[in-house]
Amino acid sequence: MDVFGLLGNPVGHSLSPPMHEAAYAELGLEARYVTFEPAPEALGDAVAGAQALGITGLNVTVPFKRDVLEFVEPDPLAERIGAVNTIEFGGDGPPTGYNTDAIGAVRSLRDHDVSLRGESAVVVGAGGAGRAIAFGLADEGATVTIANRTASKAERLADAIPGATGGGLEILPDVVPRADVLVNATTVGMDEDRSPVPTTALHDNLAVMDAVYSPLETRLLREATTAGATPIDGAWMLLYQGVDALERWTGTEAPVAAMNEALRSHL
Ligand code: ATR
Repeated sequence: MDVFGLLGNPVGHSLSPPMHEAAYAELGLEARYVTFEPAPEALGDAVAGAQALGITGLNVTVPFKRDVLEFVEPDPLAERIGAVNTIEFGGDGPPTGYNTDAIGAVRSLRDHDVSLRGESAVVVGAGGAGRAIAFGLADEGATVTIANRTASKAERLADAIPGATGGGLEILPDVVPRADVLVNATTVGMDEDRSPVPTTALHDNLAVMDAVYSPLETRLLREATTAGATPIDGAWMLLYQGVDALERWTGTEAPVAAMNEALRSHL
């Protein structure tokens, strides 16, 4: 039997177990997905222990995505982003670390027929999620602008991405009207009726994706719909980071519809 899991703290309310176990059922895989909450100082022991026990793969979430870099061999994208959310064990050497948050954002947009090559994308937020999404969209050929409450963080992130620019949230009224894609990667709107983007900047040639999935329809997405933009809720990114992780671990095409249904039934 294959064992997969999630390292984070807290992970009690994680939606990953039902999402992944729905995929195992659909694929006829004899596998389990388990959550683990190691103490921060035991993170290295947790990774080594998982390897010793023959665990096949682990997802990694808050607060360990950066710290876990020390205990894995990151692939080039995870190394550039500076964060790992998926570990693949196998062999005796250090496990491989991936970042499927980046490709998760790209695949969510692709699923909604949003193209990125040559398009202009605005990422709001320069934390962990914002970094992954900005690298992901840029790698697909989008011209990326990053806006963040702390402007210096957006500028530093933009410096690491060829062709990207960054600034404070005050650039939004200027850059969003010219954008094709807008992604909220801040926590603004989570369990609150607030949007990080001025309503008047939204328009009907825009795809608007929110990384926040609680509530599923954030104020930003509600206002995007009113403006005639294409809204893409945060469950899509959650879904596709898991889809991509599962495909790396199993080498099998993920049953996306079954995973999506399981995820949404637990939201
Ligand atoms: P995550 O892993 O979800 O990205 P994070 O790394 O803590 O979490 O990043 C949170 C993001 O939300 C940051 O971009 C943060 O802006 P700062 O870098 O200025 O802190 C943004 N954020 C959080 N609260 C915010 C608020 N009230 N207004 C605007 N941005 C906010």
